[in-house]
Formats: sequence, C-alpha cells, structure tokens
Amino acid sequence: MYSAHVPVHLVDHPIAQHALLLLRDKGTYPSRFRRLAERLSLVIAIEATRDLPVEPRTVTTPLEPATGTALRGNVVVVPVLRAGLIMAEVVLDLLPDARMGHVGLQRDEQTAVASQYYLKLPAIDSETTVLVVDPMLATGGSAAMALDLVHRAGARSVRLLSIVAAPEGVEVVQSAYPDVPIYTAAVDRQLNGRKFILPGLGDFGDRLYGT
Ligand code: PRP
Ligand code: URA
Repeated sequence: MYSAHVPVHLVDHPIAQHALLLLRDKGTYPSRFRRLAERLSLVIAIEATRDLPVEPRTVTTPLEPATGTALRGNVVVVPVLRAGLIMAEVVLDLLPDARMGHVGLQRDEQTAVASQYYLKLPAIDSETTVLVVDPMLATGGSAAMALDLVHRAGARSVRLLSIVAAPEGVEVVQSAYPDVPIYTAAVDRQLNGRKFILPGLGDFGDRLYGT
C-alpha cells in the first residue's frame, strides 16, 4: 500500500500497525475504536515530537546536581473537528503545557469539499511548534484548509499528524506546504468515487462517536 517515494513519515511501529488493523475492522465497535485510536495516536505523537526543541537544564537530585534536557518553546495542538479531538487529547497528555486551537471543518457529503464552521486559535508566533491533527487525509481539502488557517495565524513550524492518508491527499498537502512533514500510520491505495479512502476504515468520526 505504501509507496516509498511518497514523502511522509510512516509510523510503522508494530503496536501502531496492530491498532490500525483493528481500527480498519468493520466489527470494531465505538468504545473499542476510541481506545485503539488513542493508542495509535500516542505512537504517532511520540514519533512526530521526536525532534522538538530542547535545552540543557540542571536539577538537584537528593544526592547531587544532574543535568538533562528540557523541552523548549511553545507547542499548539490544533485538531480538525470533530474526529481530530481524539488525537488532540492524547497530544495534550504528552505535552500538558501545550495550548489548543480548534478548526471546525465539515466535508459536504455530495462534493466532499470541506467548509469551515468554527475557528479559535491561541496566539501563535514563528517560534511556536504547531501540530495539526486530523485522522483522515483523503482529498487533502480539510488538511490544506487547516494548514492555511494556522499559517495565516503566524505559524512557521507546522507538522501534520494523521492516521490514514490517501496518496491524493498527501500530494495536495505536499504541493501546497512542502515544508510541513506528514506523520501517518498508512498511505492507502486510492480514493473511491465518493472520496473515501480505500481500503481505509470508513468514516472515522462516525465510527468514533457512533453516529
Ligand atoms: C473527515 C475527516 C477529515 C476529512 C478528510 O471529516 O475527519 O477531517 O473528512 O477528508 P478530506 O481530506 O477529503 O478533506 P468530516 O468532514 O467527515 O467531519 P467529521 O470529523 O466531523 O466527521
Ligand atoms: N473522511 C473519513 O472519515 N474517511 C474517509 O475515508 C475519507 C474522509
């Protein structure tokens, strides 16, 4: 399914791939789907934050000073509503000092074109690391819109975290934002006529929330 020339960071950790397989299974019911999505998002988030800025810092143990590294700089996590919320909560657990913005986007059921219904972002400057999280990268319309919004708000260091991507969506994002790395657990085969990812896992938001 994954083609080596697609420019993404493929999260191929066995725990991630095991969770992904169970997420794809149509028999996986919403409460289990949520747990699996959290587990998989955790592995993706760990991978996507591997090179966050750090600085040296010294603390004092009960015995003597010890030098280590501490995270440096601000992080803002921006879920694309609604499905991105499950990934954002996992990122916040990892980075409790991160602030959170929200981008509300909804794909039209006929055209698959996303439109914006909500936007609230914290202050973002050129030093802020912005993590845009959206589990499905299909046509790339939603991700490109979310990336536009955070760049217009001042973001210069942005990463996109997804769970399943289509080659079409990867291409859209990469041509609009070649500097934005994409982290995903899979690049699937293609989109179908209704712009759903094949083999994919269906409608992520519906499976997550049982709608
Ligand atoms: C889904 C998904 C992405 C978007 C991806 O959201 O969660 O945000 O589709 O599709 P695209 O790459 O073609 O834009 P949807 O609009 O169904 O909203 P939801 O999260 O509220 O279910
Ligand atoms: N959104 C989803 O939830 N699934 C797809 O396959 C495409 C868009």
